[in-house]
Parts: sequence; structure tokens; C-alpha cells
Amino acid sequence: MFVDESEWIRDVLEATPLEKGATVLDIGSSTLHFRTVVQPHLDRNVFAPLRARGLEVLHLDARPEPGVDIVADVTNLKGVDRTFDLVLCTNLLEHVTDREATLRHVARVVAPGGLLVLTVPRRYPIHRDPIDTGYRPTAAELAALLGWPDVLRQEVLTIRAPEHYQGFKRALRRIFSPWQIACVLARKPT
Ligand SMILES: C[S@@+](CC[C@H](N)C(=O)[O-])C[C@H]1O[C@@H](n2cnc3c(N)ncnc32)[C@H](O)[C@@H]1O
Repeated sequence: MFVDESEWIRDVLEATPLEKGATVLDIGSSTLHFRTVVQPHLDRNVFAPLRARGLEVLHLDARPEPGVDIVADVTNLKGVDRTFDLVLCTNLLEHVTDREATLRHVARVVAPGGLLVLTVPRRYPIHRDPIDTGYRPTAAELAALLGWPDVLRQEVLTIRAPEHYQGFKRALRRIFSPWQIACVLARKPT
């Protein structure tokens, strides 16, 4: 996840009321090392603020690694028999072949009236994890795939520059940013 994307999620969630004790599921979380060392902005901007608000955050991934609380396949979410007040599924839908069915399972674990944050690269190179279908939706296409009437935010972010780019490379990247991310925040019908 890019820093800009994590800031977008931080800002939209900050502006959204969530009660203390509300539950959060991060689907396709990767590992604790990834969230705190490889991409520390993930924990700093997205999960630490949620924990600080008193929310209970669980991380789900297909890989049984440290920092993964629930091991499950997002394409069926077998074994996940409860719902969450907030679900995040970021940079994952481009890695599954049947995204309609996958999204139905993701929607299943959102509580009625609960929130879903979805992000998918709009313009980004192929990156297999373990596959990449080349799905690169607009935010409107992503919201339409979900099909919920209550879309609170939808936006395509143009990524300014990764934090580690400095000097000329950073300036150049800020002017000619090739990367974009489609982001959606929606509320599940009650
Ligand atoms: C590109 S990373 C995204 C990490 C983080 N959510 C982000 O936005 O930066 C994709 C993650 O999805 C996981 N993943 C890929 N296919 C999956 C599947 N079928 N079920 C569950 N997780 C999957 C991978 O193990 C990986 O940790």
C-alpha cells in the first residue's frame, strides 16, 4: 500500500463514527513485519489509529505467518462465521480470478450497517501474489462491483511518490506519477 493510500484510509475513517469496542477485519493483511517494517505507514496510518480508538483489529491472510490472526482464503472465507463493524480489503481483488464471488464473501462478513474499505490499483504494473489478473478498475467500477447503494467515498488517488524516493527522482515522480489506486468506502445495507 502506498503512503497516500494509507493517508486516505486514515482520513476517511477518522471522519467516520465508530464505537469503542467495534470490530475490524483486515483481509489480505500480509504479515506483522510487512505492516510495521516493510510498509510502516500501514500500521502507523491505518491500524494504530483504529486501535487507539479502542477498536479490536484482526488480520486475515491466506499465509499462516506472524501477525495473521485468521488464516483463510478470501475467495470463500471458510471458517469466518462472524461479522465485523469495519472490514478492509486492500490491494487484494486483483489477485483473485472470481472477484464477484470473492466480494460476496467479503460482504458476508460485514455487519449490517457496517463499513467496507476497498482499494485496487487503477494504474500499476502486474505484480503476482501469487497471481495478478490485471483487474484495474475505476473507483466507480469498484463501487458498482460491490453494488451497495450507500457509497460514502469513492476516489482514484494519483500516487505522489514513495517515501524512499528522494531528490531528483522524487521530484520527477511527483510530476509524472504513473500509479493510481481506486478507493471506495461503502456502508452495507441494514
Ligand atoms: C499485495 S498484498 C496486500 C497487503 C495489504 N493489504 C496492502 O494493502 O498493502 C496481498 C496479500 O493478499 C494475500 N492473499 C493473496 N491471495 C489471497 C487469498 N486468496 N486469500 C487470502 N489472502 C490472499 C497475500 O498473501 C498478501 O499478503
